Amino acid sequence: MDKLLVHGGSTLRGSINISGSKNASLPILAASLLTGEPCIIRRVPDVSDTNYMIQILSALGADVERSSGTVRITCEDVADEAPYELVRRMRASICVMGPLLARKGRCVVSLPGGCVIGDRPVDLHLRGLEALGAKVEFEGGNITLTAPDGLRGAEIDLRGTHGPTVLGTDNVMMAATLAEGITIIESAAAEPEVLDLANFLNAMGAKITGAGTRRIVIEGVKELHGVEHTVIPDRIEAGTFMAAAALAGEGVTLRRVCRDHLKAITAAIEQSGHRVEFNPTGDSCTIFRGETLQGVNLNTAPFPGYPTDMQAQMTALLATTPGISVIKDAIFPQRFMHCAELKRMGADIKVDNGTAIVRGVEKLSAAPVMASDLRASAALVLAALTAKGSTEISRLYHIDRGYEHIDEKLLMLGANVERVKDR
Ligand code: EPZ
Repeated sequence: MDKLLVHGGSTLRGSINISGSKNASLPILAASLLTGEPCIIRRVPDVSDTNYMIQILSALGADVERSSGTVRITCEDVADEAPYELVRRMRASICVMGPLLARKGRCVVSLPGGCVIGDRPVDLHLRGLEALGAKVEFEGGNITLTAPDGLRGAEIDLRGTHGPTVLGTDNVMMAATLAEGITIIESAAAEPEVLDLANFLNAMGAKITGAGTRRIVIEGVKELHGVEHTVIPDRIEAGTFMAAAALAGEGVTLRRVCRDHLKAITAAIEQSGHRVEFNPTGDSCTIFRGETLQGVNLNTAPFPGYPTDMQAQMTALLATTPGISVIKDAIFPQRFMHCAELKRMGADIKVDNGTAIVRGVEKLSAAPVMASDLRASAALVLAALTAKGSTEISRLYHIDRGYEHIDEKLLMLGANVERVKDR
């Protein structure tokens, strides 16, 4: 397993391009199952999660060509059973369920495993698909959905105890595009990635309105056609590098971002004392480390609130920000694995019942730390940038799931990092 050695103390300067969004690419790749015609999807990041999704689609029978960031995929004749072992390894593959059911009238998908950020239930996905007429059975770790008479539009409320479900909204929206009649999704997720998927589906000939709000209306159509689409920028990668620039930078510029997707992240970084300047078109921003810094109170929330996927990275920034910060993650109350590792580096953090209380310290110190999940790993890299000494981060595969060439991008900004290949 590769490791990343981060030698702390370098100042980050210069600029990098932010990649296409992993969390928009995954459901959009799955949506190509809804047509037998070729789909061309640009700016798909080269990360293991998108590679897994492509493997799953190929295993289902799709013809996939990939050249740098462009994926050309044709699902002319696909099977209805997703490969158990592949689906088990990536929770997000659950989003093949909706398109497969709509296209084939039946689908078999393994129940996704839980993960370190918490139990990952799919009850809301199934509530929505059942409302469209699917029959749900569980056997051998698989979910089998059947709709022999096709799907029919319905009014569905996807409200969950922890707020809206992003992939659940995606699954129901994709299935509803080929259902007979009108589907209304109340309490829908409004993340930019859901809107990007809806734009992709509408370009395929779907009739979706309201995506990006809590209420989405889908008028079913007979069939969908091929399409070309460019995926939106990855707002979480952008946020991660914004935090890195605030921690260790001197005027770092991030290109290919989308200001509207970064409002909550920008507000949190500025509230702690740093400055973020966007260009007039809002597709590039420069971050200036502040002089007078202070702790902030952060509550994760569904978009447009502060994203849970940026909670760990902000915790790393606040670990050396003077003052007290209180960080609450109501979406994934267990998403604090990074705190134990940050404490090994000298951070002063108390975690209790879905809340982390961070008291900023002067400096962290290097220590051998272990990545546990995608965003926690990114938090460890950030912390190591200004820590005294060299930090060794093991289990780098967690980072490679969702950050395209993170070591190369950090090197381009002047960080002193090296990937140590496992012999
Ligand atoms: C998406 O996961 C993202 N993944 C996650 O990003 C992100 O953390 C999450 O949304 C929340 O924003 C992708 O888009 C591929 P949810 P998703 O369904 O859709 C509960 C990353 O780091 N819930 O929106 O799987 C659930 O337990 C990843 O890139 C139910 O109760 O998350 C959670 O508490 C990690 N029942 C809350 O809803 C369900 O049926 C939000 O989960 C589904 C979810």
